[in-house]
Amino acid sequence: MPDMTNTDKIIKEKKIGLFDSGIGGYSVLGELFKLMPEASYYYVSDDANAPYGPKSDEFITERSFNIAEELIAHGVELIVVACNTATAASIDLLREKFKGIPFVGVEPYLNAYYIMPEGLEKKMMVLTTESTGKSERFKRLKERLDPDSQIDHYSLKNLARLIEDYYYHPDHKDQFEKEFENELSFLKSHHYAYAILGCTHYPLVRERIEKLLDLKAISPCSHVAQRVVDLTTIKNESKVSGQVPSKFYNFLSTSNNLWIQKNRESLHGPFKGK
Ligand code: DGL
Repeated sequence: MPDMTNTDKIIKEKKIGLFDSGIGGYSVLGELFKLMPEASYYYVSDDANAPYGPKSDEFITERSFNIAEELIAHGVELIVVACNTATAASIDLLREKFKGIPFVGVEPYLNAYYIMPEGLEKKMMVLTTESTGKSERFKRLKERLDPDSQIDHYSLKNLARLIEDYYYHPDHKDQFEKEFENELSFLKSHHYAYAILGCTHYPLVRERIEKLLDLKAISPCSHVAQRVVDLTTIKNESKVSGQVPSKFYNFLSTSNNLWIQKNRESLHGPFKGK
């Protein structure tokens, strides 16, 4: 029973790998810290190659393979592809290539349309990067979950990059606010009630998006974290693991290729963690 062996191993170690083109995956990692603080986390930010949005599927898949190998070499037992763009381009191929490793991906939460309360105005859009928007996986998802095209779709060219830049340069606040507004204000006149956030960078500025566009934003990140917890916890496992949660997580930026430990409390930088 190879699956069971795999599950046993996860429970013993709880070593989880995550990656994104940059800090977008923090929107999943922050949820995991809350739900499963006792696990150890290995996070790769592929910032040497960010943003992924304008890149080809082939390029993103090659990056995903290299990063998965790096994470597996560090003993992770499960990998979260904490990036909609990389999930769309490469998760099927990752699962095929690294058969012993469970992969959890992130996809735009189009199901949200059906679970919104009846009777309310449900004018809804989904926001993605260019690459996710063009991907076959997103097209298939949209056709399956939104066959009557109730949800409008917009690809945003710059938003992920702006968020990434501001994270590392919080002193550029005025410039960030200006560019953020430039990027999104064309959507104001449409008066959407909901925005599905189809890039993991976007939940980091969720409140800003809600305020600027006067709507409610919908993010899948807590569901993704819950899925990881479900996969790494056997039924009847005692809730108290006995392990003291680390204050740190392990972080690799591909710009300098050095693993370092970072404090979990500093995760959200200039963005308020929720
Ligand atoms: N955070 C990523 C996503 O969810 C990638 C953004 C980018 O690099 O363009 O799509």
